[in-house]
Amino acid sequence: MPDAVTTAARFRETVGGDPTGVWSAPGRVNLIGEHTDYNGGLALPIALPQRTYAAVRPRVDGRLRLHSDAARDPVDVALADVKPGTPGGWASYVAGVAWAVGEAGHPVGGLDVHVSSDVPVGAGLSSSAALECSVAAALSDLLGLGLLADDDGRATLAGWCQQAENVIAEAPTGGMDQAISMRAEPAHATLLDCRSGAVEQVPFDLAASGLALLVVDTRAEHALVDGQYAARRRSCERAAQILGVATLREIPVADLDDALRRLRDGELEARVRHVVTEIDRVEQCVAALRDGDFDAVGRLFVASHASLRDDYEVSCDELDVSVDTAMAHGALGARMTGGGFGGSAIALVRAESVAPTGAAVTDAFVRRRWTEPGCFAVTASAAAGRDS
Ligand code: GLA
Repeated sequence: MPDAVTTAARFRETVGGDPTGVWSAPGRVNLIGEHTDYNGGLALPIALPQRTYAAVRPRVDGRLRLHSDAARDPVDVALADVKPGTPGGWASYVAGVAWAVGEAGHPVGGLDVHVSSDVPVGAGLSSSAALECSVAAALSDLLGLGLLADDDGRATLAGWCQQAENVIAEAPTGGMDQAISMRAEPAHATLLDCRSGAVEQVPFDLAASGLALLVVDTRAEHALVDGQYAARRRSCERAAQILGVATLREIPVADLDDALRRLRDGELEARVRHVVTEIDRVEQCVAALRDGDFDAVGRLFVASHASLRDDYEVSCDELDVSVDTAMAHGALGARMTGGGFGGSAIALVRAESVAPTGAAVTDAFVRRRWTEPGCFAVTASAAAGRDS
């Protein structure tokens, strides 16, 4: 597992000399509120203990020299050449942040970077946001912007990271991942209001109640850059336009039936039904967490999964089998998390059931001759920051 010391050591090997510092940022799982962020809705993610570390030193020649444990060859690109699609791959997330910070009026003179991470890549756990946010944290300090000091500054940094992802990495994502990586608090879930940009910290300490959150990385293909995510987003925008609202957030759940009648399109109706009911489930889930009613939280997870599977159509066999197997083995609730089309599921289980539930899901995968999933328990962890 990488940390600030090992990442600085890797920097000395790959780049040479000492880094100015090491910054890190977490991946995330979303407890509930899926495909709501780009609809101005609510989401309730937590930051993972798994983090991406960036050892960084400024350059003065306008170049980005980027090394990663996960890539054989370094990437060397002039900042002036960074544009949509360039440099491509993982380096776009780093270069994109330097670009976005520059666009915001804070020119970057160049960077040497070495990246080490234990956030699983391609698992729907926001390894890209962790990478962006580790670099943004570094730039805030190196440029003397001071934006890590409070939540407003962190929201600004998260916005730049989202721009990096939308414009340079060309993934039309909604901002939840960057917001939680920058604004999380340990032992809390973070209620994100994606219309106002406000956050509210909700205590989330499962161990105190004898519970745990199990993540199942299905290892099934997951790519947000492909057309499906963008297509869902477009459907929501079209529905909002037909309904005459800025975003689907403006449709209260009490008005859902009326809105559905006005759409006259089966597919759009299903998409809107998911978004509007999902935003309502987030509110119910926050209330249930505050009451310590974990049975209700579990039921909301299951309803969320059904809605994502049947109405939003972003689940897949591996996610459904993970959820069904966890439920059959006594989970209080389970659901896919993140964008879908592969990636990870989460299950709310009793603390003593983490290993048996993981084993049961693994067994279900092996029997189907699928790649073995990665199963691990997570706790709500800290946001991006400086490590050394
Ligand atoms: C991905 C995106 C997020 C969000 C989720 C779905 O993780 O990056 O912005 O839209 O999918 O909730």
